[in-house]
Amino acid sequence: MHKSVSGFSKLSKSEKIDWIVTHYLSGSEASKKTLLQYLNSDKKLQQLHDEFIENTISNYYLPLGIAPNFKINDTMYAIPMAIEESSVVAAASKAAKFWMSRGGFKAEVLSTTKIGQVHFMFHGDTAVLESFFNIVKPKLLEATKDITKNMDARGGGILDIVLKDKTEAINGYYQLHGTFETLDAMGANFINSCLEQFSKTFKAEAQLHLESPIEIVMSILSNYVPDCIVRAEVSCPIEELADKNIEDPEMFAKKFLQAVSIAEAEPYRAVTHNKGIMNGIDAVVLATGNDFRAIEAGVHAYAARNGQYASLTHAKIENGIFTFWTELPLALGTVGGLTGLHPLVKVALDILGKPSAKELMQIVAVAGLAQNFAALKSLTTTGIQEGHMKMHLMNILNQFEATDKEKATIVDHFKTHTVTHSAVVQAITAIRQ
Ligand code: HMG
Repeated sequence: MHKSVSGFSKLSKSEKIDWIVTHYLSGSEASKKTLLQYLNSDKKLQQLHDEFIENTISNYYLPLGIAPNFKINDTMYAIPMAIEESSVVAAASKAAKFWMSRGGFKAEVLSTTKIGQVHFMFHGDTAVLESFFNIVKPKLLEATKDITKNMDARGGGILDIVLKDKTEAINGYYQLHGTFETLDAMGANFINSCLEQFSKTFKAEAQLHLESPIEIVMSILSNYVPDCIVRAEVSCPIEELADKNIEDPEMFAKKFLQAVSIAEAEPYRAVTHNKGIMNGIDAVVLATGNDFRAIEAGVHAYAARNGQYASLTHAKIENGIFTFWTELPLALGTVGGLTGLHPLVKVALDILGKPSAKELMQIVAVAGLAQNFAALKSLTTTGIQEGHMKMHLMNILNQFEATDKEKATIVDHFKTHTVTHSAVVQAITAIRQ
């Protein structure tokens, strides 16, 4: 059986499905049925999804949930979250409700600068390159006027271009390092278009005025955005931390700070700690049609900016006040990309009140902070499994294809028993005997 193919992209969708079923799924009718089952009967909607990517054969659903009760800068939000993992939405909702009655979340955008670079090689005199760059810089800006005019009119555009000598890292390596303000757009296309124009103009001018040639390697934005930072924070007097799981708020605050310090000092813990933050961040980033790979890459680079991977959240107690906060880079957009195309993304943005990119940065950072608060609260009190497994119970029951009646009986049973995988298996075996 041939497992390679030429011209796959030119086949119709049903031909693609048949090819994959025949060559990689042993002709399984059940697999084919599953692929077809996930296609939408609304042809226009399906075509829209088919055309988001290439070689589409089906749709891959994620549940869209709502975490209500988020009070952010005194405005109430219900936050849409697209995620597959049980207990994330419940945890965010629980943290939101907890902080709603303790002043809510405060969030602030500290900076919004995006970055892009033209990477090139030059083996001549650096001083000559520098004076050439200074002469040619206005021409680089002038040549992008067509690309930047709309963004300029809205108050954004190119902030600056500097020449960077990177020859200590790689022989002959330099950069044109551009900084950009892209307002409500994530800005990838805008930045990349500007960069490609810089490289064309730069190369053409170099051919006219430099003896040693420049060789453009590539022009591309950076997903590392340490100057596109948002801060989110919660705080309250220690005694107000008391609730059903926190009988001794002093002790809780102390343990919570210890947990954060461990994530600040210890990379193995920091990665899991930050994974919990990303549970909240990615879910909102996905629901609002943003690029979660870009966000992930940028956030983790930022977490390692001091040479060791560390916690993205911090906590302190000062004068009896408990404060918990995060500062992280989030290059998000609320116009362009999927935001205007995906019908569910539009609804998600409507639920959030059609936020600006800055408002979305605040909401996403808060979702990350809330998630981390819920996880640390569980970890330092009941342990994570109690709540997580309670939420995961339905997944285990679905694995066993439990009927509605069986589900009701077992859910009732676990209201007073601890959920573990083996306890659920035992319970289902018992009621089936
Ligand atoms: P609980 O105390 O059993 O919840 O917590 P409750 O029944 O008392 O309800 C309180 C509130 O929680 C509810 O208020 C909801 O807001 C929310 P209400 O709606 O009743 O007014 N809530 C729910 N929301 C939606 N659906 C539900 C639901 N249940 C409660 N079914 C909970 C249970 C799971 C929330 C709690 O134990 C918790 O926050 N656990 C943390 C879970 C977590 O962090 N999960 C992420 C996955 S684990 C992970 O990947 C990350 C980690 O490794 C990161 C790290 O190590 O730092 C942990």
